[in-house]
Amino acid sequence: MKLGIPAEGDLRGHLFVSSGLGGMSGAQPKAAEIAGAAAIIAEVDASRIETRRSQGWVQEVTDDIEEAFRLAEKAMDEKKPISIAYHGNIVDLLEYAVKHNKKIELLSDQTSCHAVYEGGYCPVGVSFEERTRLLHDDQEKFNELVNKSLHRHYDAIKALVADGTYFFDYGNAFMKSVYDSGVQEISKNGIDDKDGFIWPSYVEDIMGPMLFDFGYGPFRWVCLSGKHEDLVKTDRAAMDCIDVNRRGQDRDNYNWIRDAEKNALVVGTQARILYQDAMGRLNIALKFNDMVRKGEVGPIMLGRDHHDVSGTDSPFRETSNIKDGSNVMADMAIQCFAGNCARGMSLVALHNGGGVGIGKSINGGFGMVLDGSDRADEILKKAMLWDVMGGVARRSWARNENAMSTVCEWNDSHADEGLMITEPFIANDDYIKNLINKG
Ligand SMILES: NC(=O)c1ccc[n+]([C@@H]2O[C@H](COP(=O)([O-])OP(=O)(O)OC[C@H]3O[C@@H](n4cnc5c(N)ncnc54)[C@H](O)[C@@H]3O)[C@@H](O)[C@H]2O)c1
Repeated sequence: MKLGIPAEGDLRGHLFVSSGLGGMSGAQPKAAEIAGAAAIIAEVDASRIETRRSQGWVQEVTDDIEEAFRLAEKAMDEKKPISIAYHGNIVDLLEYAVKHNKKIELLSDQTSCHAVYEGGYCPVGVSFEERTRLLHDDQEKFNELVNKSLHRHYDAIKALVADGTYFFDYGNAFMKSVYDSGVQEISKNGIDDKDGFIWPSYVEDIMGPMLFDFGYGPFRWVCLSGKHEDLVKTDRAAMDCIDVNRRGQDRDNYNWIRDAEKNALVVGTQARILYQDAMGRLNIALKFNDMVRKGEVGPIMLGRDHHDVSGTDSPFRETSNIKDGSNVMADMAIQCFAGNCARGMSLVALHNGGGVGIGKSINGGFGMVLDGSDRADEILKKAMLWDVMGGVARRSWARNENAMSTVCEWNDSHADEGLMITEPFIANDDYIKNLINKG
């Protein structure tokens, strides 16, 4: 999308650079490889690199920046995917790229910036071990180094963006941390952080308009039997429910599940995730419950975390593409939570913080056990739709185009069931101007 690659293409021959090989960030090299890219991911903690290397999610490891770029450039020339862990600080890597005119097409960051002063972000110039010692012995000095490092990090990204790099904040509160460290120019309005920042968050630019506004979000399931064969059966069942010709989003998710086995994505529980919209999620859930009922698979637990259409109010992440001024409210997450409780989901969560940090968001999620009962069917029919369409409605009231068309389509197909969503009325600017002029 950002690089002008056609829908059926992939990232072969393109470079993605980021940082962090931890709990969630560790998925970046694997994801980049699946997408065909050449990826360099900086990580200061050698033990984290080793975990991902031994798992097969990182192909090459080096502590030499020049070598990292050389390996990436070779793979790009050969149009082969490659994932490279650079053992070192992301700021050193980016400053090298600026100095040596290295072209980075896609750039992000996944250090734990939601907790920079608690050790989530390792300042440039100190080793990982030294950072741990400072954190313990000299918090003041540590904070000072973090601020300086974030300033240098920002300057390097600014120079790369000026040279054509597409940088996006991946919901780790990177831009908020840069702002809090004293870089006011990163704020969009130049005064405070209320209107967001100069570069897009991945929700503003990608996830919001392409997924959340349509109702696409994470549909997750865990095969409680712990049997791998159950996971394989549910994969096939999920694929049967997806219409690949509907939208590119459906095709991507079909391909994702089709290749999940080959990509060896399970690291613990027999669990899977794919993105679907309201009806897509409901159809798969009902199908799974039917499979449990027929004894084809053991019980299944559905899950949905905060990173979704309706469950979370987070102006710096999930709701950052809501521009009607309501992005600072926390009503949607509360309504979603209360509605899911009332409709009988097995487990409903609402909490503060999450990945963007305490005080910056209200996050919600749910769990639903499919035991094959008719009761579970009834709960799914009410709760799954509530769980998704509440957020689509809110996005539509905020005048997000794809959300408005989704609600319009929804109303056309659900009129008989009494599940209508109020649509926003768009004022005709010329009509209003005329009235004012007349007045
Ligand atoms: N958008 C989302 O849906 C989403 C999902 C998961 C996580 N996140 C966010 O992404 C961030 C990372 O999550 P995680 O679970 O991987 O955290 P983590 O703490 O397990 O991993 C972060 C890694 O970054 C490394 N690191 C820190 N500073 C560095 C630096 N300057 N240079 C190179 N490496 C450095 C750390 O050593 C660590 O291994 C968090 O802020 C989290 O909230 C966002």
